[in-house]
Amino acid sequence: MNIDVFTLFPDAFGWFERQRHVANALAQGHTISYVNYRDHTPLSAGQVDDTPFGGGAGMVLRVDVVEAALRARYQVDPVLLPGQRRVIALTPSGRLLDDALVDELAAEPALTLLSGRYEGFDERIVEHFCSDEISIGRYVLAGGELAAMVVCDTVLRKLPGALGHSSSAVEESFSQTLEGGPEYPQYTRPAEHRGWRVPEILLSGHHARIRRWRLEQSRQRATKGPLP
Ligand code: 6GU
Repeated sequence: MNIDVFTLFPDAFGWFERQRHVANALAQGHTISYVNYRDHTPLSAGQVDDTPFGGGAGMVLRVDVVEAALRARYQVDPVLLPGQRRVIALTPSGRLLDDALVDELAAEPALTLLSGRYEGFDERIVEHFCSDEISIGRYVLAGGELAAMVVCDTVLRKLPGALGHSSSAVEESFSQTLEGGPEYPQYTRPAEHRGWRVPEILLSGHHARIRRWRLEQSRQRATKGPLP
């Protein structure tokens, strides 16, 4: 997986790249590259954004600046890019990121993530250069960098070898294995603390019954009711 992140703040990703599963993925040959819009602006004084036509608060990322950055990176007219790879604008109003969308993205050979700042993107960027618009939740972040990290985090941890144990990502919250439901409760030692005992079934060694209990717990948390 090769991920290109377009951002005004590449330094913001330093901490992120040091996280274990991200570092593992990078050590295996997956890549995250950063392109700073400001390095490619055709405007003087490093300008990348401007005030919105029609008035209003904040600043909008300019279409000519994003075009120049995409051209510099891919050496093609960026209107051709959506036909070649997923180019994702990170916007609060985009398609909500969920486990199914993460699986879809993790199956791609390459991703382009466009972070916006301020009031977001000139709409022509989304319309002509992007294949997708993705939001990480129904709230507004001051910038797309955290959203880009969320997308990278969720996608990279799905790749084989990123997690310590290969099945960790198979049976987890919202996965197919759990019928899209939340994860079952987990316990570890001590088996009793202040009289709070771990459910006996988990200490029983009956793996089939444990699997059933866990699926039941997941279904209860999803308030889907008991197993038939
Ligand atoms: Cl992708 N960007 C911004 N700025 N805010 C968001 C978001 C993205 N997703 C939820 N809120």
